[in-house]
Amino acid sequence: MKEMNENQIIIGVEDFAKVSTNEFDSGHDWWHLNRVRNLALHLQQAENIGNRFTIEIAALLHDIDDKKFRKGGDVVAETLISDMLQELGVGEGITQEVIRINKYISFSSEAKTIIKSSEFLIVQDADRLDAIGAIGVARAFNYGGFRNNAIYIPDSKGSEKDASTIGHFYDKLLKLKDMMNTPTAKKLAEKRHIILEQFLNKFYEEWNFASPDNH
Ligand code: ADP
Ligand code: NI
Repeated sequence: MKEMNENQIIIGVEDFAKVSTNEFDSGHDWWHLNRVRNLALHLQQAENIGNRFTIEIAALLHDIDDKKFRKGGDVVAETLISDMLQELGVGEGITQEVIRINKYISFSSEAKTIIKSSEFLIVQDADRLDAIGAIGVARAFNYGGFRNNAIYIPDSKGSEKDASTIGHFYDKLLKLKDMMNTPTAKKLAEKRHIILEQFLNKFYEEWNFASPDNH
């Protein structure tokens, strides 16, 4: 085990995170991790809760081994993260918290009963903020394209189980502003939510432009 200071450890975690997202779509690339890290550190400062170092590491590693991109095999996030952090000399307590955040952060896999630490609340808010606003729109269409989903299936708002990317707005994105944990994230989410609504309004306006229904 090497002796490293916190800055050196963060650089080590960044290097690992950069390589780990190579196979993901570009909405889940290094830049997503970097934005989530920056948002999380901003929230930590504004709310003054949670351990900053844990939050930074957890933000950088929150999407390691995301189920959406898993190709099968027996490499699991827990082992990857714990081996890497041990190598960097990170303590067991921080490592366990980072693993918990990675495991339970996702919208789909969130267990209703888990007790959320301050670090968990902050990183989850940061990840959710990056799914809304202008960046959220870009990421949704990028992911939809990656899956070759339809942009929009008329007359099927919601309930279509993410068959189209516009459908995904109703299935998930428009719900996120009411799911924020911290007051600072709620405020930011409200602004980003308005961007989603404005986007949808313009989208329908253009979709229906010059349609016979409008005459
Ligand atoms: P989490 O980070 O909670 O796991 P997801 O991985 O489900 O959340 O979503 C991450 C990103 O991928 C978000 O920007 C989200 O909008 C996008 N995404 C996920 N599923 C879809 C889908 N069916 N259509 C379009 N975008 C999607
Ligand atoms: Ni994420």
